[in-house]
Amino acid sequence: EKDGHDWFMRKEIHEQPRAVADSLLGRRTAEGHLHLDEMRLSDQELRDVDKIIIIAAGTSFYAGMVAKYAIEHWCRIPVEVELSSEFRYRDPILDYSTLVVAISQSGETADTLQAIRHARTQRSKVLAICNTNGSTIPRESDAVIYTHAGPEIGVASTKGFLTQLVACYLLALYLAQVKGTRYGDEIDQVMAQLEEMPAHIQRVLDDAPAIYEMAREHVDTRSVLFLGRHAGYPVALEGALKLKELAYIHAEGFAAGELKHGPIALVEAGLPVLCVVPPAGRDQLRDKMVSGIQEVRARGARTICLVEDGDDAITPYADRIVRLPRVPVLLQPLVAVVPLQLFACELATEMGHDVDQPRNLAKSVTVE
Ligand code: F6R
Repeated sequence: EKDGHDWFMRKEIHEQPRAVADSLLGRRTAEGHLHLDEMRLSDQELRDVDKIIIIAAGTSFYAGMVAKYAIEHWCRIPVEVELSSEFRYRDPILDYSTLVVAISQSGETADTLQAIRHARTQRSKVLAICNTNGSTIPRESDAVIYTHAGPEIGVASTKGFLTQLVACYLLALYLAQVKGTRYGDEIDQVMAQLEEMPAHIQRVLDDAPAIYEMAREHVDTRSVLFLGRHAGYPVALEGALKLKELAYIHAEGFAAGELKHGPIALVEAGLPVLCVVPPAGRDQLRDKMVSGIQEVRARGARTICLVEDGDDAITPYADRIVRLPRVPVLLQPLVAVVPLQLFACELATEMGHDVDQPRNLAKSVTVE
């Protein structure tokens, strides 16, 4: 049942190319338009949306952070991302023109369920992104985008996360299509890029042995920092969460630009710092990340850098390099998170922990 793997988690990590491909399947009509089966909200209802609030917990929340960047960039609709457990207690501003997007792999997370119930009492429309057919959250929503990851058994979310990202990109592109923003014309191009992702993810998986070896060097590590920028920031947060929940190692993710505002004080000799380097592009994000890496290295950190193919600017400052396929920055989480999953899984295994059933955790959290 684990296909020869020691853990469901490891099996599910390796299923990601297929899960992503399945989640993209059948989303385009013969005329090249995006079509989402269970959208159930009319184009007019979607055109009336003037604000989106994404609610989710844990890993699903990090997918929501990526969704915000994609939706705001492609659709020019303001997006807030909020933890489900905080949402309804702060008296959020909601009305009929607010679209609430609930992201939940299980579809049963109590915090998220209560949040959508609250949103509906305020007449907001609710769209669920969910992996579990017929679960409570999609049943109580106006519209659904189902992810096609297949059952996720390992407690730590992996293929659930990647397919949530796919659903978020699809939603963003769909809204761009309906609203007719200038990015509406790029839908074909982005869909083609998305369709290449399974092969890119497979390439990252083919390098698993090198990541495993690196992970095993860290069994005595007490603390790890993760740095990222732009769409790499939620990836850093997700990498840190995986390490906490599986290896019980203290880990924190930061937006790299925030380092100098405090966290750099944590850096001391030998501290491992995992850096998700943005693709080299027009906006100099990559260069700013490189200087952040130089800063921590100068203070003795051991830098492990996830860098796109062909980018050598980082080489002098990296103790270890993990190569990523060249993809646009917004899509980079789909490849960048995979080495971090492999890293946490292998390190926890090496430490003798139960990877599929980490202590104190449950697969779906049905209490608030
Ligand atoms: C982390 C993890 C949790 C879940 C969170 C939300 O690996 O699995 O953080 O992401 O409990 O669960 P869903 O998506 O089912 O609402």
